[in-house]
Amino acid sequence: MAEIILRDIEKYFGAVYVIRKLNLTIKHREFVVLLGPSGCGKTTTLRAVAGLEDVDSGDILIDGKPVQQLEAGDRDIAFVFQLFALYPHLTAYENIAFPLRATSESKASVEAKVRAVAKSLQIEHLLGKRPSALAGGDMQRVAIGRALVRRPKAMLMDEPMGALDAKLREEMRTELKRLHLENESTTVYVTHDQVEAMSLADRIAIMNEGVLQQVGTPDDVYHRPANLFVAQFVGSPVMNIAAANVKADGSRSLLALGKGAAPFEFPKSLIRHLSDAKANDLTVGIRPEGVLVSQTETAGYVPVTAHLIEPLGAYDIVDLKVGAQLVRARTASGYVSKVGARVWARLDPAQTHFFDTRTTDSLRIRLVDGAH
Ligand SMILES: Nc1ncnc2c1ncn2[C@@H]1O[C@H](COP(=O)(O)OP(=O)(O)O)[C@@H](O)[C@H]1O
Ligand SMILES: [Mg+2]
Repeated sequence: MAEIILRDIEKYFGAVYVIRKLNLTIKHREFVVLLGPSGCGKTTTLRAVAGLEDVDSGDILIDGKPVQQLEAGDRDIAFVFQLFALYPHLTAYENIAFPLRATSESKASVEAKVRAVAKSLQIEHLLGKRPSALAGGDMQRVAIGRALVRRPKAMLMDEPMGALDAKLREEMRTELKRLHLENESTTVYVTHDQVEAMSLADRIAIMNEGVLQQVGTPDDVYHRPANLFVAQFVGSPVMNIAAANVKADGSRSLLALGKGAAPFEFPKSLIRHLSDAKANDLTVGIRPEGVLVSQTETAGYVPVTAHLIEPLGAYDIVDLKVGAQLVRARTASGYVSKVGARVWARLDPAQTHFFDTRTTDSLRIRLVDGAH
């Protein structure tokens, strides 16, 4: 068992308030990714769990027991750093076996464990080599092997793929996922890369400036972002965000982005939802895939101009000029023929997010396309 509970964790570095009342439970066998921009406090949080950093207040519990008094070595937790931190004078075999040195295990048992880990990481053929003779991805495999060999209750990884190139990162992602399925150790993984977070996590905990913004499954944080920060941090290209005003118009609502722009049609119920949510000023968010584009004039669509076309192979990202506002849409490759083309666009109500401009919190309004 390894359930990790962080309760009201606070940390100062001098006068700088780095972790602000952080509460998070990582369930037994769960893979939780701490995601956030550089400097938001991810490493500090992870180091606190590992026992490498003291906190100023709050509790850290592993399997229900407070661990602040325990030394790092007594927490049965393995830590993988961004920089591989291998012993340069030891072979891959000796590096992986290193954590077992202090145990009284027989040579045969150590060897069996090292070989099993090396097999699952597909580095058996590299065991005789020193780190200097290994490629980046293989060094990282050795570092992970060293962390796994003790079969720790929990694995903490701090941007373990940060130093690898894009293609290797993708390979290692798949491998880490498989390893987690095999080992089932509770894992906390730190990254600033939202793609990595989405692909690896059972749940993602998103931080900004020491404050936990939202904890949820990849589906939650992508489709139901709790605030503007999460909405814009998760997803690529980023979600379109714009100030908006809404008014009733017969059997529908009309939503305009800025003054003078042709308004988009929304279900009539939007007005009621906004009034129920007691919204102040309104900001809407919509991902490029929620901006629907038509080459021909279509009922419910408004005329817009293509300002920029970014071909990405599988699809295009097209910047549309809606009044003074630019809105990015995702279209089939080549669908909008050229810059300056007139096309028609619509915001899919089911994919539109509504935020309170002042608090930046989501108003949690969910519309169903076509509903009234
Ligand atoms: N040992 C330290 N002394 C002083 N400030 C630190 C120390 N470690 C981190 N910080 C500061 O704490 C904040 C959070 O850092 P960190 O946890 O490393 O962020 P992240 O891992 O999310 O990039 C940053 O502002 C960083 O400059
Ligand atoms: Mg860090």
